[in-house]
Amino acid sequence: MNCLKTLIIGMVVLLFLAATVSNRIVSSQSTKPPTGQANVATNDDSVQENCPIDDEVIACWPRCFEPTEAPTGFDNKTNDFIPQGDRIEACATPTPGTFEADKFIFSKVDEIEDGLGPVYNAQSCRECHQNPVTGAISQITELRAGHIIERLCRTPCGGPVFVDAPGGSLIQHRAVDPKIQERVPPLFSAGLSRPEPVNATRTSLNTLGDGFVEAIANDTLLWIAASQPDDEASGHLVHGQPINVPIEEASPKSDVRCRVGRFGHKDQHASLLSFSGDAYLNEIGITNRLFLTENTSLGRPVNDFDAVPNDETIKCDDTSNPPPGQNDFCGEDPERDIDTFAEFMRATKAPARDMDIAATEDAQKGEEFFNKIGCAVCHVPSITTALPGTVINAGTFVVPDALGNKIIHPFGDFLMHDIGTGDGIVQNGGQTTRLKVRTAPLWGVRTRTLLMHDGLSLTFMDAIERHAVEAEIVRQNFEGLSPDEQRQLIIFLESL
Ligand code: HEC
Ligand code: HEC
Repeated sequence: MNCLKTLIIGMVVLLFLAATVSNRIVSSQSTKPPTGQANVATNDDSVQENCPIDDEVIACWPRCFEPTEAPTGFDNKTNDFIPQGDRIEACATPTPGTFEADKFIFSKVDEIEDGLGPVYNAQSCRECHQNPVTGAISQITELRAGHIIERLCRTPCGGPVFVDAPGGSLIQHRAVDPKIQERVPPLFSAGLSRPEPVNATRTSLNTLGDGFVEAIANDTLLWIAASQPDDEASGHLVHGQPINVPIEEASPKSDVRCRVGRFGHKDQHASLLSFSGDAYLNEIGITNRLFLTENTSLGRPVNDFDAVPNDETIKCDDTSNPPPGQNDFCGEDPERDIDTFAEFMRATKAPARDMDIAATEDAQKGEEFFNKIGCAVCHVPSITTALPGTVINAGTFVVPDALGNKIIHPFGDFLMHDIGTGDGIVQNGGQTTRLKVRTAPLWGVRTRTLLMHDGLSLTFMDAIERHAVEAEIVRQNFEGLSPDEQRQLIIFLESL
């Protein structure tokens, strides 16, 4: 009798638990539309299956042109997507449309009266994207956190599910008032006693040359994935995973359209405009036409600390010539700075190599080893962008002459891999990407002091030694090189 009672009570408790857990998963999945906001995990793997991507290849026949090299340089100069323009003096109000004017806005410091925060990471895009020139990298890292629950009864049943820390996985480092300071929970004084043990730092990424990366056709990335070695016998199994991520500016907004992700450590975005809207909200705290809802402080409302109250009904200044995805409402960004950020990044040159080092025999030998032992399988040396005129970003952007049919040397495949370093955090890719990270593009890597997504490797040797799982065989190949050959390979990295 006692036994039966315990059994019944046990079953009731289990049912109750199952209901709350699955409710939690369901509520984080289906009550919200899929979003490209990198602060919020789209835990729903079905986005991957159901969100369409476009075939972005256009036939070049009968006029096929040889691709040309993309311009490179760490020189604050346009790639000719827009004119260079005149240098903008401090305190000016530039009209976007030239490289100098757009760079000025990318560098502009936002203050509290502009809508900064209430929780934020920095005051301008340049604060984290500046070394050695505006748009590049910096030593600044960000913080993400969440926890794991066991998936009880969705298909496939079982398996861990990543859940964001309250209010989103990004833990903003700064706040306009200490009362709303975020930190990795627990934060007992705010009633948040559950720890968020899955956490990681993330290094700032380079945006130079990203207009070319945006102009890579979906099909090119799918083709790279399909061509990676899949050799059961030798154990050389490389499975670059492309993920489909929402294009925020696709309209109408209710009709979610996707593209193969390529930006961010988790490939969380495919369009520079979507990334700009996301970054303006999550890094600087400025709502904008793509993301109109202010962030909370670990799920707690911040209205009392918001000098510019979040008003989703503020119209954009200029609604006469609406850009794609224009919904007339701009929140704290009536000037539509997010369009300017995207235009600026699209106009940057790709990172340049150090030609002096590249010309040495050591670097050239090192490059041969890099290709021979399999580094280049993921760190793909050359990719050609889609032809000018190709319609990308779910119909919202046409590849211009300056960005189309160009050869770039990113030394990356823009695909997700498990090389044993995954931080357990899910953003736009669903649970299958929990332990995966995008191949770090190695162009410009010589300007980095903190390596890998978490910035925890301080030398090239250490970064290489952390490669395992999909990169296990290649790391072993590296270990099989003589010390002198390893040195040459690293000199090659120092030329990138
Ligand atoms: C506090 C520092 C910080 C600020 C401010 C910041 N970023 Fe970033 N940025 C980062 C970090 C960190 C990443 C990598 C994020 C990740 O994937 O986890 C990144 C990644 C990016 C990328 C992806 C680059 C690539 O090739 O994958 C773009 C594009 C970008 N930022 C644009 C912007 C824009 C536009 C702004 C201003 C609105 C901005 N960022 C402000 C730190 C910052
Ligand atoms: C299976 C794919 C794969 C192979 C093969 C591979 N890498 Fe990587 N590499 C990655 C991924 C993914 C990352 C990012 C890991 C992270 O951030 O946690 C990375 C990161 C790096 C970084 C750090 C760059 C930065 O900006 O922080 C270096 C350096 C690097 N790889 C060099 C190499 C070298 C040299 C080889 C050959 C010995 C190699 N990789 C082979 C996938 C690969």
